[in-house]
Amino acid sequence: MSLKKLRKEIESIDKDIVKLFESRMKIVSEVSKYKHENNIPILDSSREDEVIEKNKKYLEDKKLGNYLEDFYKGFMDISKDYQRDLIDEKKLDTDVKSGVSATTGLLCIIGNPVEHSKSPHMHNLSLNNLGLDYSYMAFNIKRGFIKEAVEAMKVLNVRGFNITMPYKEEIMEHLDEINENAKLIGAVNTVLNHDGRLIGYNTDGEGFVKSLDKRNVEYRDKKIVILGAGGGGKSIAVEFGLKGAGEIVIINRTFEKAEKLANTINENIKRGMAKCYKLDEDILKREIKDSSILVNTTSVGMDELEDKSIIENPDVFHSDLFVGDVIYHPAKTKLLSIAEQAGCEIMNGLDMLIYQGDIAFKLWTGFNMPEYTIKTMEKDFL
Ligand code: ATR
Repeated sequence: MSLKKLRKEIESIDKDIVKLFESRMKIVSEVSKYKHENNIPILDSSREDEVIEKNKKYLEDKKLGNYLEDFYKGFMDISKDYQRDLIDEKKLDTDVKSGVSATTGLLCIIGNPVEHSKSPHMHNLSLNNLGLDYSYMAFNIKRGFIKEAVEAMKVLNVRGFNITMPYKEEIMEHLDEINENAKLIGAVNTVLNHDGRLIGYNTDGEGFVKSLDKRNVEYRDKKIVILGAGGGGKSIAVEFGLKGAGEIVIINRTFEKAEKLANTINENIKRGMAKCYKLDEDILKREIKDSSILVNTTSVGMDELEDKSIIENPDVFHSDLFVGDVIYHPAKTKLLSIAEQAGCEIMNGLDMLIYQGDIAFKLWTGFNMPEYTIKTMEKDFL
């Protein structure tokens, strides 16, 4: 049989699939209307599993079972997206904390302070939008009580939690398991309760790199300069290392911290990949000249340092440089303003915040954070 003929056959099958797709989506829209009018959540995972199992039974070639399952999972996700798009999003937004019942699972963030955290809003918006039976709370844990807090998470059978300052490092000794990149980073920001075992992850650096992916910024085999070697700097530098950056240059006010981070990368990821320097304008100029990406992970540019920039001299930048800042308040730091004026593409830390949350959300629920949450967060911070 010729390829041409086979393709013709596929074309005709596709035509039928498209027709069936349209008919199915029409019914989905009716279901969505019904659910909305009767206040029923979009997601019903037991029904999804039922549908998949039932359809697998219709298969003659059982070897296709796993493929059909993936096909249906994708299809169900599309149906849910479609239902969400059809439902008035504003109504859902006002319902963020409704629907807590005796079966509601708990997610939370622990830290000190936690009162300004955006995570409860972001995760509750997502849970509500997907109709998942969880609620996300914030707990301020007194210093010296992190061990008890972790025990409480186990006793209460919390599904998962985030950890923020100052406990990202201290928590590690109280967990049952720590994944590889969190070990390298030396800090945990997300925990998953897997059948009673608490597993630590670090999604901060991954979140940052995902925001570059979203903008199609290439970092593989590129030279990257990272300013700062604190918690944010470590997670981003390690993630760039794991994702195949060409060269990572870490520049920090305290040289020893930059050196320690560079050693971690060189010893555990790739020898010679990382270099380190003490903060100095001549070094910045020299190292940035042939770099593709510059990331500020220091706190210079926020709070009491809001009117400062870690680089004040615009001549240090070049127009092919992509400049990211982990700070999202203010939305445009002084560093980003100077870089923008020098012709650089810029990015603040909001997407890093969103995507570190997206990765955690997926670990806990199996779902991606809905586009609706991402858009709402972006709108709230503009
Ligand atoms: P985070 O977890 O947010 O990264 P951190 O661990 O406290 O916070 O790290 C803050 C980073 O900002 C560090 O790299 C710090 O430099 P030092 O290691 O020398 O402390 C950097 N930083 C803070 N204030 C700074 C300043 N005024 N000038 C230069 N670097 C500064």
